[in-house]
Amino acid sequence: MKFLYYTLAFVPVLILLLIYAFRLIMRLTKPLMKLEKKKLWKAVRIALSLIICAMSFMVFSVPGIISLHFLVLALITDIVMWLVNKVCKLKKESKWNSSWRYLLPAIATIAFIFYGYWNLNHLVVTEYELDSQKIDGNGYRIAFLSDVHYGGIQKKQVLKEKIDEINAKNPDLIILGGDITEEETSNEEMHEIFEILSGLKSKYGTYYVYGNHDLQLYRDKEQRSYSWNEYLEALHKAGITVLDDEAVIIDKDFLLIGRKDLSMGERLSLKDLEAFGRAFELGGGIKPDYFILEIDHQPNLEEGKSDLLLSGHTHGGQMWPIGIIMDILGDPTYGEYTKKKHLIVSSGVAGWGFPFKTAKRSEYLIIDVK
Ligand SMILES: [Fe+2]
Ligand SMILES: [Fe+2]
Repeated sequence: MKFLYYTLAFVPVLILLLIYAFRLIMRLTKPLMKLEKKKLWKAVRIALSLIICAMSFMVFSVPGIISLHFLVLALITDIVMWLVNKVCKLKKESKWNSSWRYLLPAIATIAFIFYGYWNLNHLVVTEYELDSQKIDGNGYRIAFLSDVHYGGIQKKQVLKEKIDEINAKNPDLIILGGDITEEETSNEEMHEIFEILSGLKSKYGTYYVYGNHDLQLYRDKEQRSYSWNEYLEALHKAGITVLDDEAVIIDKDFLLIGRKDLSMGERLSLKDLEAFGRAFELGGGIKPDYFILEIDHQPNLEEGKSDLLLSGHTHGGQMWPIGIIMDILGDPTYGEYTKKKHLIVSSGVAGWGFPFKTAKRSEYLIIDVK
């Protein structure tokens, strides 16, 4: 159903943009028609327009991203210039023939792409603080890392260089929120990232939930770089606990629930998972009004109740303005939401598909629950 909404919203916009692209290229190449061999140049103009339009259709590729950004920025420039000309009553000749009409969006696109490349490879911390009556004592400091997509598009040393910085923040608990690897990750890289992550230290240990990319499910079985068993072995070797529709009591006031990813088929309800966690109650027990931290790779506000839900997956939209469109369509994309559940969505350590990120920062989270 959601796919249908996105198609209905996105396809008309894309078609209008392509019509604009065709007109833009025809306008830009108009001087060619003053040359001899008019028929030849007409064919060249049409071919150029069709190439740009075809590139823009490949929305998940580098050429597609570049041409779409150029088109949107050219459209914005056109609208701004039209308004300026109207307000200032400028003559048609001086305004529309200005090469700035093309240079400005071209420069802005290049600047955007360079910023996106730098931003993707520049990992920062984002901090949240939340008060709860259910927490006793000093509370918990949680470090949350998701969407590393190791071996994909981010430079490999980016996260490695941050391990000491994360440890210096003295987290009580480390959560890996899925998409740690992806379809492009080799067997060697899969082992390498879990070795790097084994360097994270905390009082209660490191817990992991699956993302939709981790097990390379979008590839044929024969083409996958590693098996599910190999993946589990690497996690085990790194001392990381997998929560695949499982719950664990961290302390008498704190229950941690890790959900199966939505891409992996049927899963247990939050209520059943809570009961499952309580069934393993040990020692002095857990107090009646304990805090529930829910981890679900894909933000999902529809099911059950928890005190805090942590998610990744969206990459903050990765490229502006995708995140804004997702938010308008009602999909939480980045930051803190409090309407149905208390949800924090991270834009992730890296991104996916193309080596740029202009929507939000590359980040890991430090969350203080007190
Ligand atoms: Fe991801
Ligand atoms: Fe994901």
